[in-house]
Amino acid sequence: MGIVNCGDQLLIEIKKLTKIYSRNARPAVSAVDMQIKDGEIMGFAGLNGAGKSTTIRISTGIIYPTSGTVLIDGHDIVREKTEASAKVGWVPELPNFEPNAKPLTLMRYYGGFYGMKAEESIRKGRELLEQVSLGESMNEKLRNYSQGMKKRFSLAAAMLNDPQNYFFDETLNGLDPEGIRFMRKLMVDLKAKGKAVLLSSHILNELENVADRIAIIHKGKIVDLIERPKIEEINKSDGKLEEYFFKVIGG
Ligand SMILES: Nc1ncnc2c1ncn2[C@@H]1O[C@H](COP(=O)(O)OP(=O)(O)O)[C@@H](O)[C@H]1O
Ligand SMILES: [Mg+2]
Repeated sequence: MGIVNCGDQLLIEIKKLTKIYSRNARPAVSAVDMQIKDGEIMGFAGLNGAGKSTTIRISTGIIYPTSGTVLIDGHDIVREKTEASAKVGWVPELPNFEPNAKPLTLMRYYGGFYGMKAEESIRKGRELLEQVSLGESMNEKLRNYSQGMKKRFSLAAAMLNDPQNYFFDETLNGLDPEGIRFMRKLMVDLKAKGKAVLLSSHILNELENVADRIAIIHKGKIVDLIERPKIEEINKSDGKLEEYFFKVIGG
């Protein structure tokens, strides 16, 4: 085996991403550029409607961009959707599942998409459900899961094929303190394993303890990118991150 220089491809590369849903509205996302390296947690902050979920849904291959693209470890999410989306785990803002399904039935189904054998999907699925503390609810139908439990299930499902890249959409939002601590730790563990992680939030403070860098999006455009030392600096200042955030978005 020769030495292949592909180190610079191991990342999420969002390139000039633009999404126009309707000709009468401003672009939901406008020329967004962002890179998330392996072993890095990128915070993605912005008000409701700023364009976070649109960016994430395009990056995971759920919807198409109007122009621009996203490379997942070098694979184009539009032109090489199958390869690219297999390298992505996604926890949506409000995960929803067939209410009558049981967790392991869905794990087997999802595993099928990644070419996993049924026994393997179930074995791995069981292990992951234990890991996200759903071991005791493993045999219940998903209709009995709370929103927090659905987020945990969604997370376990996202990890089924051990992807290199993760998108968490408002994942800390709406969780109780224990849930927040759990999710934060899990993201830090993923980072330690060298995964690339993007975590969006409409609350900048939620990101300060976990993100290496924070990109701020406003009205579809990236308006700031804060590196770690600066995050701490701002946090020591009077108004802290919140003041800074409103200054940056001009409100
Ligand atoms: N499916 C859609 N059809 C039309 N407009 C949409 C759709 N999804 C989002 N939008 C609009 O795009 C903008 C960005 O939304 P979104 O990406 O959901 O923001 P965020 O996740 O930051 O709250 C908003 O103005 C929103 O109303
Ligand atoms: Mg959103």
